[in-house]
Amino acid sequence: MDQFLSCELLSQEIFDAAEDILMSEGAQSMKTFMQHGTTSVYEHVVSVTRVSLIIASSLDMFFSAFSKKRIDRRSLIRGGLLHDYFLYDWHIYSKKHEWHGFTHAGCALSNSNRDFKLNGIEQDIIKKHMFPLNILPPAYLESAIVCMADKWCAMCETFHIDISSILLYRLNMMYALRNGTMVYIMKSQIEANNVFLSTMMDRINSEVSAS
Ligand SMILES: [Fe+2]
Ligand SMILES: [Fe+2]
Repeated sequence: MDQFLSCELLSQEIFDAAEDILMSEGAQSMKTFMQHGTTSVYEHVVSVTRVSLIIASSLDMFFSAFSKKRIDRRSLIRGGLLHDYFLYDWHIYSKKHEWHGFTHAGCALSNSNRDFKLNGIEQDIIKKHMFPLNILPPAYLESAIVCMADKWCAMCETFHIDISSILLYRLNMMYALRNGTMVYIMKSQIEANNVFLSTMMDRINSEVSAS
């Protein structure tokens, strides 16, 4: 990839890979369930997918000198969006999900398999994203990336901080330096996650109401 990673590029990439998931009735219902703090499950999975793509770009750039194998970004996006597809509010007590932390990955996987056609990487991303709470470790790099991004986003959402923009800023600087151009990018030019989220949600909401 030789372009700067902008929020526009990332959101377009997510739409291209998973518009069917974003627009589905099941995924739309995630807007009504809260995840951490004031963040809905829908916003959470979109943020996790964004951070996963940023991490994937960093790793691809780093390993491109040693290996031709590239991260499967389409599976990363689809698995990232479905990793918390458990479809209930875990804050409301129910006997069915009293062990939510341990059981929701399995529940998200069975709901996802019911509503979408998943490949092996996507299934592994969903099933293993709660490692180490769920003891089976990720079998693919893509699963490990979503597992890390999920914890990163959970921390940001719980404590109302956004450190992913700093990572994106650093990554853009590395692209600039690698391409031999010393480009100084103001931090204010890198959209914060809440700007990315509101842009994505506006687009999703307008497409949902138009359909
Ligand atoms: Fe989860
Ligand atoms: Fe999550």
